Amino acid sequence: MFEKELNELRKNDLLRQFVSRGSPQGPVITISGKRYINFSSNDYLGLAGSPELLRAAETAGRRFGFGAGAARLLAGGSILHERLEKAVAAFKMTEAALLLNSGYTANTAVIPAIAPEGSAIFSDELNHASIIDGCRLSRAKVLVYRHKNIGHLEGLMKKEPAWRKVVVTDSVFSMDGDIAPLPDLCTVSRKHGAVLYLDEAHATGVLGKGKGSLAHFGLDQEPWIIQMGTFSKALGSLGAFVAGTRDMIGWLTNAARGFIFSTALPAPVVAASIRALSILEKRPGLVKRLLENTHRTAEGLKTTGYDPGDAETPVLAIKQRSVREALALSAFLWKKGVYAPAIRPPTVKEPRIRVTVTAAHTAEHIQTLIRAMQKYGKL
Ligand SMILES: Cc1ncc(COP(=O)(O)O)c(C=O)c1O
Repeated sequence: MFEKELNELRKNDLLRQFVSRGSPQGPVITISGKRYINFSSNDYLGLAGSPELLRAAETAGRRFGFGAGAARLLAGGSILHERLEKAVAAFKMTEAALLLNSGYTANTAVIPAIAPEGSAIFSDELNHASIIDGCRLSRAKVLVYRHKNIGHLEGLMKKEPAWRKVVVTDSVFSMDGDIAPLPDLCTVSRKHGAVLYLDEAHATGVLGKGKGSLAHFGLDQEPWIIQMGTFSKALGSLGAFVAGTRDMIGWLTNAARGFIFSTALPAPVVAASIRALSILEKRPGLVKRLLENTHRTAEGLKTTGYDPGDAETPVLAIKQRSVREALALSAFLWKKGVYAPAIRPPTVKEPRIRVTVTAAHTAEHIQTLIRAMQKYGKL
């Protein structure tokens, strides 16, 4: 059983396998006892392996224990959960916020709850898999618009009579690193009375001095904007949040199945997220350094003949003509001690190496990547 399916994947170079770290997450990791410079994490601010997060988790663990033992609506929540929700609401300048166990859970729990039967969801074609799955789980009609194409989106919205319209987009697209056209998305959403649902997974801690995509564009939070974000990427922890009006959060508390029917996050994890958020607010130098490193890496890559595109964020996509080519480049980098795996269909249509830069990379780490790419270009 399943052998045929696996063989099919193998035949098409699409079999996915994971590696296992023997070290903390960071710019340098060990895999099978060997050191690799790591361009493959979403730990944009280098917080995942930081002693500060670990200390916060240890302290919370001593007071609250580890497991939550129940869902929030039972006895699973702690005062730390509530504190983090208040901190997120203040950070995002919303009335309220709610924690969920992961970004994947958030999208699959919140989208069906805000877009019930009779509504219409308008979803960017390059949205993350968890958004796609959230749309599939909802009973709404789903209309997919061409990537960042406002004309196409508006054309679809005009024709749609649904009583509730929800526009859903990644703020930063996870596999290409480009930014959604928020000013235009806000304009059309306002015009058509739609809810705008932003997935800030890769924008939190990255754009708008870390505050996210609205701050990046100088836009205000509005009652019809729902912001979802994760603690699992730049904030180096685990879990997700949804932020918006008190009523919306009240509704999710009663209707979002992934919230209601799942055990709450462990208090030590929540404590680490609280600490990460406070580090983000107190140390603007971290985001600045992330941007400098992104710029340095993108400029360096351009000299190798591998153009990372606009490089608006630390997600740099080096597109390849085929899966084979993406695998060959990744294997070459691996031999040179650089970990940057190939991203293949069905995750993306166009195979690529996804290089993610962090604030923790040194100039030397970046130079090692660039030198390896230069060598590969000359083969
Ligand atoms: C845009 C986007 N949304 C949601 C998620 C899921 O977040 P998490 O890893 O916390 O489940 C990811 C992570 O891959 C993502 O890139």
